[in-house]
Order: sequence, then C-alpha cells, then structure tokens
Amino acid sequence: MTAQVTEKEYGFFDDANKEYVITEPRTPYPWINYLGDTAFFSLISNTAGGYSFYKDAKFRRLTRYRYNNVPVDTGGRYFYVKDGDVAWSPSWKPLKVELDQYECRHGMGYTRITGKKNDVESSVLFFVPQGENLEVQQMTLTNHSAVTKTLKLFSFAEWCLWNAEDDMTNFQRNFSTGQVEVKDSVIYHKTEYRERRDHFAFYSVNTDIQGFDTDRDTFLGEYNSFDTPEVVSQGKPNNSIAHGWSPIASHYIEVTLEPGESRDFVFTLGYIEMPLDDKWEAPAVINKTKALATIARFDTVAKVQAAFKKLTDYWNNLLSKYVVESSDERLNRGVNIWNQYQNMVTFNMSRSASFFESGIGRGMGFRDSNQDLIGFVHLVPERARERILDIAATQFEDGSAYHQYQPLTKRGNAAVGGNFNDDPMWLVQSVTVYVKETGDFSILEEPVAYDNDVSKATSLFEHLTRSFNFITRNLGEHGLPLIGRADWNDCLNLNCFSMEPNESFQTTENKAGGRAESVMIAGQFVLFGNDYIELCQQLGKADEADRARSHVKAMEASIKANAWDGEWFLRAYDATGQKIGTNEADESKIFIESQGFCTMAGIGIEDGMVAKSLESVNKYLACDYGIVLNYPAFTTYRIEYGEISTYPQGYKENGGIFCHNNPWIMIGETVLGNGDRAFEYYTKIAPAYQDDKVKLHKTEPYVYAQMIAGKEAATPGQAKNSWLTGTAAWNYVAITQHILGIKPQYNGLQVDPCIPKHWADYKVTREFRGATYNIQISNPNGVSKGVKQLIVNGETIQGNLLPLFESGQTADVSVVLG
Ligand code: BGC
Ligand code: NOJ
Repeated sequence: MTAQVTEKEYGFFDDANKEYVITEPRTPYPWINYLGDTAFFSLISNTAGGYSFYKDAKFRRLTRYRYNNVPVDTGGRYFYVKDGDVAWSPSWKPLKVELDQYECRHGMGYTRITGKKNDVESSVLFFVPQGENLEVQQMTLTNHSAVTKTLKLFSFAEWCLWNAEDDMTNFQRNFSTGQVEVKDSVIYHKTEYRERRDHFAFYSVNTDIQGFDTDRDTFLGEYNSFDTPEVVSQGKPNNSIAHGWSPIASHYIEVTLEPGESRDFVFTLGYIEMPLDDKWEAPAVINKTKALATIARFDTVAKVQAAFKKLTDYWNNLLSKYVVESSDERLNRGVNIWNQYQNMVTFNMSRSASFFESGIGRGMGFRDSNQDLIGFVHLVPERARERILDIAATQFEDGSAYHQYQPLTKRGNAAVGGNFNDDPMWLVQSVTVYVKETGDFSILEEPVAYDNDVSKATSLFEHLTRSFNFITRNLGEHGLPLIGRADWNDCLNLNCFSMEPNESFQTTENKAGGRAESVMIAGQFVLFGNDYIELCQQLGKADEADRARSHVKAMEASIKANAWDGEWFLRAYDATGQKIGTNEADESKIFIESQGFCTMAGIGIEDGMVAKSLESVNKYLACDYGIVLNYPAFTTYRIEYGEISTYPQGYKENGGIFCHNNPWIMIGETVLGNGDRAFEYYTKIAPAYQDDKVKLHKTEPYVYAQMIAGKEAATPGQAKNSWLTGTAAWNYVAITQHILGIKPQYNGLQVDPCIPKHWADYKVTREFRGATYNIQISNPNGVSKGVKQLIVNGETIQGNLLPLFESGQTADVSVVLG
C-alpha cells in the first residue's frame, strides 16, 4: 500500500502514518478523535476541545464539557503560551490568535497538535497509555528564533463534579461542594471524596512549577471566557485554592530557551481509585501513594515514548488482521485504516459519548452493541466475548431485552425498559458471528443470567433459543412479528399515539393492544434464524434445527403472502392493520429496512422479489449522497406513525440517508451478484470517497456519520452525528465479507467475492484463527461473482472454502473468478 498525500482545503490523509492531517483549525465542524480503549477515555477535537471520563461518561466525568456551546466546542485541555506581550494557544483555540503554522494529526488512539508563533513551536502529543487511567500530554516547546526567549506557560483543565448530568443542573449544591489539593506539581480534584467517593483525579506536570490556579473565576476573571483569561493577560498566576464554585487545574511554568533549544514537559491527567479504608494520609489529606506511583510511570519522555510505541505497535498489529491491497487507494484506506478504527470506537462507546451524544443520555444499546461487535470481533475477540456475555445477561427470561444498559453497572436501564422487538434476534447475529470468527463454541456453554439475576442463569445457547422463541410467540394477525415499541427504526412508533409534546417517543408507554407488525423484524428473523439453524446443526442439535426451520419457513411464507407490495416489500402493518410502505400510500410509499433485510435473506428470490425490491430501491431511494430511508418523506405529523414523522423531510429517520442501513442494500445486491451496484452504493457513503464533499458534509472526513441529509432535505448531503453509528460495523462487513468476499465460516474461510466487473485483481491478507491467508484474486474474464479456480498452497481445491490451518501457519491462496 502506498501513501497518498493529497492537499485539501482542510487537510489530507497520510496513509503511511495512519493519520488524518488537519491543516486549518477552522474546520466546518470540530473534527474529533478518541483516546483510550478500555477504561479511561478522552474525546479530543482538532483544537484540543473535549473531555475525559473513566468507563462511564455520565457517572465518572473527569473534565467538564458544555455541549451545544457558543461558539461550538468551547472547553478542553488548553495551553497558553506567553512570549513577551503576545499570548497564543498552540491548538489555536481558545485564544484564536492567528498562528504562523498549525497542524493536527489524528492517528490511531492519539492526536498530535502543533502550533507555531513568532518562532516558538509547541507540539503536544495526546494519548491514553494502554492499561492506564490517564491522558498523557507530552509537550515539546522549541525556540526556533535567534534570541533567547523566556516564556510563560499556563496549562488548563476544568474539573467536572463527576456526575455529568448533575454537574450541568444542580447548582444549588454544586457551587458549594468543589474541593482541591495542591502538592508540588500535582493538582488534585477531590470533590465528594470526603464522603462516598473512592476516587479522585489529578493533573500533574513533570517539572517544578512557579505557581498554579484551581479556582476558575480567579483564573479567567469573573466575566471572562477561555479566550480572555485574566491570569494570562496579567502574566502571573494567583495560586488560588478553590472552595466550591468551579474548580480547575492550571500549572504555571516559566521556561527560558536558548536559540534552537527544546524542552519537553509531560502533563498527566488521571483517575485514581482507593480502597475505602485507605483514602487519607491525614485528616482531609488525600493518600497520594497510588497517584504518585502512577505519575512516576510517565515522568520522563523516554517512559512516555515507550508507552506510545506500545500503542502504535498495538494498532499496527490490529490493522494487520485484514489488509486489502488494490489499485484503489481510497478503498485500501477505508478498509485497512479508518473503518476498522471506527469499529473499535463504536464498540467502546456504543452511543454514549461523541460530539452529538452527550454521554449522559444513553448507555450501551442492546441492539447497537450486538451490531457494533460484528465489525470488531476480528480485532480483539476476547473483548467481544466479554461484551456478548454482558449484553446477554440483561436479557429477560422471556427472550426480550432491556433496550440499554449502563456500562459501569452492566445492569439493564429501567428508565428505558424493553419491548423493542428487534432486540432479541441481534444477539443471535453477534453470537454466531463471534463463533464463526473464533471457533470458540465454549461460549455457548457459559452460564448467563437473565435480568442480571444469576439464580436464573442458563447457558448462552439457551439465551439464543429464547431470542428465537420470543419472535415465534409474538406474531400478529399476518403471521409477522409484532413490532412492540419499535424495531430497528426507533422512530417508527406504531403503538404509541402521542399527542403530548412533553412525552418522549422512546419511553412513552404504548397504547394497549399493540397489533402493529414489522416486516423488518420478519426479514431479520429469517436471516438470523437461518444462522441459528446452522449453529444448531454445528452443535448436532438436529431436532432443534428442524423445529427452527419450520418457523423460518413459515415466516418466509407469511412475508411472501402478506408483505409483498408488487414492486417491493411492505414496511409494516400499523395498529389498525393498515399497510405501511405501500404504493397505495400518498407518502412514504417505500422504506429501506424491509428491502434490506428481505433481500439479504433472499426472500422470494425465486419469484423475482429480491430483484424487484432492489430495483425499486435504486429507483426511489438512491440518490447522489446515498440511499434514503423512506420516500417520499412525511410532510406532516402522523400520530399513528410517531417520531418518524416529526422530523422535517429529508432528515434523520424521515427521508434522511441513514448510513447504517445502506450496507443492508449493498449486501442485498451481492445476493443477486450485482457487484457493480453494491460497490457503487459503498462509494456513495464511504468517507474516503467524499473528498469533493468535505465542506458540504461538515463532519470528519475520516469516519461515517449516522445521517446524511437526504434528497428531499433543505440541505442535501450535509452529514450529522458522526462516529457513533452502526454504520461502521455494517459497512465493514459489507465491503470485506460480501464485496471483497472473505467470509469467516465455522469450518474455514469462505472466498466469495462480488465485485465490479472491471476490477482486474486485488489481494487480501486475512488472519483467521491464528493462521495467515494471503489471498490473491484475479478476474481475467471481467465477472462480478463466481470462483472458477481455487489453489491453496499449490493444490487445487473444490468449492470456495479455505480449510483451517494451525495457528502460526501461512496459506498462499490464488483465486480465479470466472
Ligand atoms: C433518534 C433515533 C434514536 C432514538 C433513540 C431518536 O430521536 O432519531 O435515531 O435511535 O432517538 O435515542
Ligand atoms: C439510532 C439508534 O442508536 C439505533 O439503535 C436505531 O436503530 C437507529 N437510530 C434508527 O432509528
């Protein structure tokens, strides 16, 4: 793979370093990155905005962040450099003093921001070392001028009072609770440590400081903001100690640099937990032993660089597990770097913390996390295993599920409850995907609780059976699954009938009766039901496989009989038994979800239904920016359909391009062998292909957004809600398994490409169960699909399944399509 560096208005991809390089701080929207991958996390924008938290963005928020601020993205970890009378910020914000040079490099788990002003350069590397609960900020300050300079450096972080929601609302209490301690170069945040908390935070630097501030209003001045701190204009700190109000942490450092001289500073922002009986070293004085030991692990540049190397080695290894080499650099870039990186981030965060998700509203989604896992499992299978067991333990005994759970407690979220009837079958998908990737059948034997009650535990396999049976027990009058509160489309609220603006569509109790049925869940049941049958066969459970097959067949029959509209699949039946997503309707005649699931499952393929459905998608839903969710969008509120009709036309679930479900159509096209169309849809939304739309899109050019405004929107092509979307995982599966065609199966690696006809060749290196497969694919006859010849280590084999190899072995595979 060669690095392609293309100059762009805001930045460019540096593939050799696996980085996106931002060269203009005023991006169309803050372009962020994520630091950390297991417990301690930070969000960081290209101008150093964002915040840190430990495990749970709501309950363990270390630093404060004001969402929906004006201007956007105000607040972060900031540095102020004062050089004579000129003060500037190396990340441009918050001072916004014009820099002579600016660059932000977002890489795999790290961000490096460099600013230069009047021949002084500050370059800060931000990352969370693996296995540590802290953010490291290694700053290199260099004097490029010909004169000796004495600089004043101020650091800045604003503490959050731990519970991020409370922190933003409960001021009658909060303004009196804040407490800090300062000892040497470490500023400790210990609000509520005196009572029930067993944790505190610190911000430290590995050099002597000449002062500090811990009270925000003293640092900024009562009527100032981050861009006009009083302490910086006066050029000296106030050594303030916060009592209540808003505690902060700011170090003050004086540094003299000879011409050409550089100095490094290591700042660490960390989280410490203490045993309850060992919290204090003296009354009201924090026991600092653990904190100091932590700080000492990063008190030199050599130690920091060793940890940084560990992080980059880790990512280089992860990203060597699936590598495509093709003549299309944008394809390579998406598949090999950014899509997999986003898969990791969505796996870690679910929908909790981004610049669109505030980190206080939503824990881990049952359906979301199951789906995120399918793009992640090949990276760190052990973590996927643990996640599956956590999710499954929130399932109810009847097979339904809590819709969300809180990552800190791993318990189902009662405020949201259950009754989203697509939830159960996603567990079947994630578990079968996991077992195919790893061959770890033992997970099916693990005892797993229901509703976190271990006394009710059964095997994980039994959980899948209950998922399956939940659907068969909850069918409506057309033989299709009851939708409950909603299916995958949270906004199609068919049993809700809300006229009360203060009610949330997501949590309002459904009206009694609940007759509405979902064709999407029906297709999902057939698709993942077939996976369940295959799993039963693998396990030698022939009777269960037969039983399941009869239900799947019956569902197919119901769909063909009751859910076919003539040119496409219906979307649902509403609470009064009326069709939704029909040509007979005036609006929203056709929806994407049921076309996606029914075509992926190949329902009615023999009768031409799959082909017709996909033709209709192309005709009515596809546009330049991707495939919209429904068409024509609703123009008025429809009480019988709920939230979907609350969105203005072309946005979100009402006619927006919901990127998450575009890959369902791509996969559907591969079922028919339409490689050209599948790939065309891929390129419509894949970030690497949007170089001409960066400004229009607004959001980060290196990751998928949940939604791109659709063709009926006032601002078509504008993306929102980047990063935390099931799009990453599904697109990854679509491109790597269904288009490039390398698919894990129980007994080997299947090669079944479905590509554009004009592709001559490409290569995939795939690590599978510890062995490495070097797969060279050539397409001499210009076809989309069909393996004509398969040679493995010099031997021709029949079919398209590559056998398993011992861990550590290499298989050289040559595939000829035709
Ligand atoms: C959004 C959905 C989301 C749901 C649950 C709705 O307002 O449109 O995309 O899944 O809220 O948070
Ligand atoms: C976002 C939610 O996270 C996801 O669960 C849902 O399926 C989609 N919105 C569609 O409504």
